[in-house]
Amino acid sequence: MSGKTFARLAASTALLLSALFGSAQNPVLTIHPNQPVSAVSPTLYGLMTEEINFSYDGGLYAELVRNRTFRADWSGILYWYLLENGNSSAKMSIDDKAGPSDALKSSLKLEVTRANSQNQAGVLNVGYWGMPVRPDTVYKGSFYAKADSADVGAVTVSLVSDTTGKAVATATVPGLTTSWKQYEFTLKTGALQPSAANHLVLSVAHPGTLWLNLVSLFPPTYKNRVNGNRVDLMEKLAAMHPAFLRFPGGNYLEGDHIPERFDWKKTIGSLVDRPTHPSPWRYHSSDGLGLLEFLGWCEDLKMQPVLAVYAGYSMEQEHVNPGPDLDPYVQDALDEIEYVAGSADTKWGAQRVKDGHPAPFALTYVEIGNEDWFDRSGSYEGRYAQFYKAIKAKYPRLQLIATMPLKEMKPDVQDDHYYVRATQNFQDATHYDKTDRNGPKIFVGEWATREGSPTPNMGAALGDAAWMTGLERNSDIVVMAAYAPLLVNVNPGGMQWETDLIGYDTMKSYGSPAYYAQVMFASHLGDHTVASKLENAGPKLFYSVSTDTAKKRLFLKLVNGSSAPQTLAIDLAGAMVASTAKLTTLSAHSTQATNSIDAPRTIVPVESALPGVSAKFSHSIPGLSIEVIELELE
Ligand code: AHR
Repeated sequence: MSGKTFARLAASTALLLSALFGSAQNPVLTIHPNQPVSAVSPTLYGLMTEEINFSYDGGLYAELVRNRTFRADWSGILYWYLLENGNSSAKMSIDDKAGPSDALKSSLKLEVTRANSQNQAGVLNVGYWGMPVRPDTVYKGSFYAKADSADVGAVTVSLVSDTTGKAVATATVPGLTTSWKQYEFTLKTGALQPSAANHLVLSVAHPGTLWLNLVSLFPPTYKNRVNGNRVDLMEKLAAMHPAFLRFPGGNYLEGDHIPERFDWKKTIGSLVDRPTHPSPWRYHSSDGLGLLEFLGWCEDLKMQPVLAVYAGYSMEQEHVNPGPDLDPYVQDALDEIEYVAGSADTKWGAQRVKDGHPAPFALTYVEIGNEDWFDRSGSYEGRYAQFYKAIKAKYPRLQLIATMPLKEMKPDVQDDHYYVRATQNFQDATHYDKTDRNGPKIFVGEWATREGSPTPNMGAALGDAAWMTGLERNSDIVVMAAYAPLLVNVNPGGMQWETDLIGYDTMKSYGSPAYYAQVMFASHLGDHTVASKLENAGPKLFYSVSTDTAKKRLFLKLVNGSSAPQTLAIDLAGAMVASTAKLTTLSAHSTQATNSIDAPRTIVPVESALPGVSAKFSHSIPGLSIEVIELELE
């Protein structure tokens, strides 16, 4: 650039800036980077999950066999079919009197009357909307079985293509005995096209009777955990930089009826010792993702557990009265806390060691119940108080979360939930600005802008981002927040609740625009908010500003919910900054624009360099956009 051109450019920039800063009409954002206001909660962003929308079974939990424990209803044994190849002949039924364990008291009985090596008989499982088969991949499987005699011979296990009917991987398991035993096998694929159109077959080549249960097959899992999680979904969650995991619910904690609650003692130990249970979201839970698996998930993503304990209320208006009736449930919660955080010399800590995790997990927060304002009996005050007293007596440092405002005592933390439209979030972005700082800390344990199905659209992402600016500004009192629901299987029948952050089918997954808004905010958290003021703000313009003291960075988040671009004059109150900042932009041309399983990257954050940054500079925010400007402080 010639000296003359540069001088002309500088003069026109100066003119523009003086017009912007001088006019009463233009929005001006004044930031004092060196005036901290309050600490940003390092645990502000985390995850909330439960078994809903096939989040675990058929989702995060990588098990490929659907109904591995052979539950049946009037229509037959769910997701299992009889296979009679060629002229083979067989019958399958449920045997209520033969099971591999006290927890699994029944099994599938396969009576084969005719079969040979060319005409095998057996059973097939259709998986969760098929089974994901990829080339050169090792699948690890197992089943429990017994036979009436050795005559039945070896069991052949194959992954079979739905379209060709041919096996893409096969293993042979020899030597069934007349007693229950677990058998393991490995299936290895070769060169092939990735596909979900596959099923699993277990078959025999000789007449005889055998019994089967807990048939399991896993693809490679995240960090190769045994009984672990799906890799693509874990990677998407890791990118959210979550500080905590609230589990196991939600309604899933409570169940529709008391016996259908998340009864944690039935979700630990060997899979064969887990009876499984009905979830309130209209399907059955395998409980493969049980208490210790939740904790392993926390460990993998370096999240702290926010443990919700069952508090004596289930959703069909069933409650346990405070007092002696509630004591066993309080004891169960104490045992659960001991299992999570107790040392090896405690009863339940020792059980955790036996289950494979010697070190206790660090635990700070325990939530007592879920959404207890639904309990029309009004028993929550008494139930919370009883849990509080018992838990604090043993674990005085734990922070105990109440699920609704209390009149008779001040809880450590109060869990607030919001499911709203974008307009409401625009209006409510100041929600916590005036909250009493002497009251309980706030955990926004579930929230979402519900626009878009199955996953939120750009309009929802804008509502979310506006709301998050308020959470950040108030994160001295809002210690944690989590979007909900997190996951949805987008296959037909997979969704029970619309507008979920991350969608997936059997093979693939994608993040919604709202997911990317979360990623952008959580990746630029900072440790302090700083003094700032927005004047002459245009419609639907929101911001939050924080600094990362150690890295000397200033994070400015901007949300333009209007469809028109807005030019903002930014005054850094004399602070010295590097002249180029990093800009991340998420934007779309319409609020209805979205991502989907077939178009997963229509709306994704775009990173660029933002030149021309100085103590006073102007920035035009595109319409319908969310931006993070990362400034280097000098
Ligand atoms: O997130 C879906 C449901 O919404 C949760 O299970 C429940 O806590 C809330 O009502």
